[in-house]
Amino acid sequence: MKRLNEIIPKGFIYNYNKTKDGVYYTIMSSNGWALGTIYFYFDDATTLYLAGLSVEELHRGCGLATKILDIFEEFGTEAGCKCLRLEAEKDSWVQDWYTRRGFVEHPSEYAILNHIFPDETEIWMKKELKQNNKDGFKD
Ligand SMILES: CC(C)(COP(=O)(O)OP(=O)(O)OC[C@H]1O[C@@H](n2cnc3c(N)ncnc32)[C@H](O)[C@@H]1OP(=O)(O)O)[C@@H](O)C(=O)NCCC(=O)NCCS
Repeated sequence: MKRLNEIIPKGFIYNYNKTKDGVYYTIMSSNGWALGTIYFYFDDATTLYLAGLSVEELHRGCGLATKILDIFEEFGTEAGCKCLRLEAEKDSWVQDWYTRRGFVEHPSEYAILNHIFPDETEIWMKKELKQNNKDGFKD
């Protein structure tokens, strides 16, 4: 299993801050400029939750958020998770982007169990992750 620091593309470094519930993760250029942030936590072994994806304004539109999602899709797969979940602003281009990336609207069982509901402007989305089979090939 690859660790998170083994998934970072060349030319980037990262920093993180652990809280009791999850991890604030910052991706930086090799000279230490913060470029983007994301918060992640594991609900249980099956689900990687992502929140607060944000890219520094000057660097938007250059594919950084795409890179960050790529990193966390690989990380979730490597960690043996079945899916990624996140919230998106309803009817926004961000929702459209997640949809293009294979996310679908799906309520979170964790959120339902814990009575955490997004307000009417937000929706939960889910993406199934491909699992590595025993031969090392993706299903
Ligand atoms: C959302 C955000 C993280 C995107 O970061 P980014 O690095 O600019 O995104 P990318 O350059 O990787 O582009 C991702 C996709 O969104 C599209 N996109 C980017 N900015 C866009 C815009 N302003 N309007 C419409 N589409 C846009 C890109 O074309 C790309 O689509 P594609 O993969 O189909 O080609 C960034 O705009 C941001 O920090 N916004 C404020 C915080 C926020 O809204 N976060 C969302 C939390 S759910």
